[in-house]
Amino acid sequence: MVLLTNMQKTNQNLIKIAELLSDGHYHGGTCVGAHLNISRAAVWKALKKLEQYGISLESTKGKGYLLKSPLILLSKEKIQSLLNLLEKDSELRNQKRAEIDPVVKKALQIEIFEKIDSTNDYLKENLKNSNSKKIRVCLAETQSQGKGRLGRSWYSPFGQNIYLSTLYPFEKDVSELTGLSLVVALSICDAICLMLPSYRKDLFVKWPNDVYINDSKLAGTLIEIQAESNGFCRAIIGIGINVNMTKASKSDINQNWSSLKQVTREYLDRNKLCAHLIMCLMNYLRRFSCDGLSCFLDEWKERDVLLGRMVALSSGGREHKGMCVGINAQGHLLLESSDGPVRAYSSGDTTLLK
Ligand code: BTN
Repeated sequence: MVLLTNMQKTNQNLIKIAELLSDGHYHGGTCVGAHLNISRAAVWKALKKLEQYGISLESTKGKGYLLKSPLILLSKEKIQSLLNLLEKDSELRNQKRAEIDPVVKKALQIEIFEKIDSTNDYLKENLKNSNSKKIRVCLAETQSQGKGRLGRSWYSPFGQNIYLSTLYPFEKDVSELTGLSLVVALSICDAICLMLPSYRKDLFVKWPNDVYINDSKLAGTLIEIQAESNGFCRAIIGIGINVNMTKASKSDINQNWSSLKQVTREYLDRNKLCAHLIMCLMNYLRRFSCDGLSCFLDEWKERDVLLGRMVALSSGGREHKGMCVGINAQGHLLLESSDGPVRAYSSGDTTLLK
């Protein structure tokens, strides 16, 4: 059992103050308070909190405060209204990309935390209290114990990236979920493509579930599965996307990484990306639930960053090297070694050799 000790739902004043101070102008504490109908002390408390979260504020006597770089915090209302707008988008509807099944939509429950240990652990802890048909989505501004694959940690600075977990029920046996992580990675690419269509050809997937851009990691997925009875199980699907982060030390992230801001040179409103992500994720999960992996194989091939390249796979304490020749129908990685046949691997961690 995981004990969650460090969680707090997002404070609405914090969202409004951050937005107000993001316009590049100074704002006096009294004006901010009057604008939001809160006391000066409440404004001061919120500003202190932002500083504690590592947000750089500038304050000048007689002028007030401003944020050194913009900070648009996550808002459930914004995400929900953006989701409604996306659903009405006729072009997306024609492409069948904007459909959230009405049943799924009714079952969808979104929660946003200002801070949490880990969004995956939160959903895991609450499994017993969750209606088995509900699809829960949990987002956080920062995670104090963000988890990566294979026991690694996931760097989760405040207000910069997306840390999202969803609890999704499947009327399937656990054994039928092979390939789920690949489908989730493809849904992340689709969401980013919808937001930033000119980067469509730059987004790749790295087996089994990373999203890559310029040979650097942009997003990762951590899936934890809870087997239940009679061909029913629930998956906790955790997604981390580097969005506005521009700095991290080697000890924070020790591999090549990138963020959408580094690539586009623009600050992105994460609310928009969250709405696109939730829509695409729900869409891809529904298709996977109905038809399995087969309908995603062509899409994987188009985005496979490893295809035709030399790869090292570390699996079960051993390293295997070979040329990647794609994936099989189960989503297993196919490597052709220099001295033998093509072998399929069901799990492990891949590194591009060149
Ligand atoms: C990886 O590539 O190693 C997987 C990274 C998964 C990170 C996400 S962030 C939201 C969710 N909560 C966590 O603690 N981890 C996942």
